[in-house]
Parts: sequence; structure tokens; C-alpha cells
Amino acid sequence: METSSLIIAPSMLSSDFSKVAEEVRTIQTSGADWVHLDVMDGMFVPNITFGPKFITDLRAHSPLVFDTHLMVEKPERFIEEFAQSGSNYLTVHGEATVHLHRTLQLIKDSGCKAGISLIPSTPVSAILPVLDMVDLVLVMTVNPGFGGQSLIPSTLAKVKELSVLREMEHLSYLISVDGGVNLSTVSTVIAHHADVAVCGSAFFNAPDRREFVLRMKGRHSV
Ligand code: DX5
Ligand code: ZN
Repeated sequence: METSSLIIAPSMLSSDFSKVAEEVRTIQTSGADWVHLDVMDGMFVPNITFGPKFITDLRAHSPLVFDTHLMVEKPERFIEEFAQSGSNYLTVHGEATVHLHRTLQLIKDSGCKAGISLIPSTPVSAILPVLDMVDLVLVMTVNPGFGGQSLIPSTLAKVKELSVLREMEHLSYLISVDGGVNLSTVSTVIAHHADVAVCGSAFFNAPDRREFVLRMKGRHSV
């Protein structure tokens, strides 16, 4: 079986919030790599999830990389709190702040790795001036706000574009895809050169999470 080095990052958004400690532990026992944490403020996206205390409390139950995705207006207001929560990556949306460069610098100064995310309607050209500052580019393959949506195929061209740019400019950011990634879409995600696959509903609804991760990494589709 051909295997890939794809990093699998299950999103806690699709977990059962009444037993989150148990759910986060299954991310590690299933063989997945990172924990993806979707912070939503009810303004930037039409949904509300959790804040830094939730992440601090989860941190005690997992040694994995915490990949925090801030879908929050003016994220610069909260960088310090999220950095102290034990997050390893802090990813912000360029569409959510006027001062993107300053916000990314704040993240780097806090000791976290800096990520930037693009909603489906934002082109890669919008982030060219800050690409050399980031450790991660998160390409939203659905409109942010909810788990369980279908991947929008046209967004994948940005993944390829980012991969070519990285090579040309000798940069080293990871490229992550977020939204509608499952056993049916993972092969096209890999074909476009993504490094990280965020998966919410596909992971948490899988009958066997360990088997799911193996198949995601093995490039099998159902
Ligand atoms: C959506 C979030 C995603 C979401 C993905 O706004 O950013 O991380 O959890 O869920 P699935 O994998 O179900 O599309
Ligand atoms: Zn996300």
C-alpha cells in the first residue's frame, strides 16, 4: 500500500462536547498527528464555539500539536491569551484584520508558529506580502463556520499555487486544507500538494478512527 506523509489534524468542532477529554485522547490513540481547534466568534463566522480556557483545559489531555484556527474578528485582541493556552500554531484570517502583518508579528513574538487562512473567495495574491512570515497557510475548502460541508473543488487550485510559490521563493510554510476532507477527497488533496489535512466530521463519525487515519494516510478511498 502506498502511504503518504500527510499530517492528519482532526477538528474538535465535530467531537462530542460533553466528553471532550475522552475525544481528544482518541486523536492520539487513532494515530492522527495534530489537534485542530476551531475558535468561532459569531461575527467573522455565523457560529460560536469556545475560547482559550477550553484549549488550556484540553492541553492537559493531549501531548499533540495544537493547531488553533481563529475565525474571529480582529484576532490581534486575543493572541496573548491563545498563546498562553498551549496552542502551538495560531492561524488568523487576513480577511478579519486590517493589520495582518502586525498580527502575524504578535503571534511570532508570543512564541507560537504563525498561520494565515484564506476563505474560498480570497486569492493567494492577497497574502503575498506576508508569505515569508508564516509557518502555515490554511486553505479553507469550504466557507468557514460549520463542519460537515462539501469540499469546493475550485479552492484546491490555491493549494497547488502555494506549493509552486513555496518552491520558487524558497519558503517553508506548511499547506493545510480545511473543510470537506474525507476518504473520498483525500487523494485530490494530496495530488494538489497539501501537507496537512484537517478533518472534522469524517474523523469523529468514522466507525473506527484508527482505521480511518490509516486509510487517509494510505491514500485509499471508499
Ligand atoms: C470550518 C472549520 C473546520 C471544520 C471542518 O469552519 O474551520 O475545521 O471543523 O469540518 P469538516 O471536516 O467536517 O468539513
Ligand atoms: Zn478549521
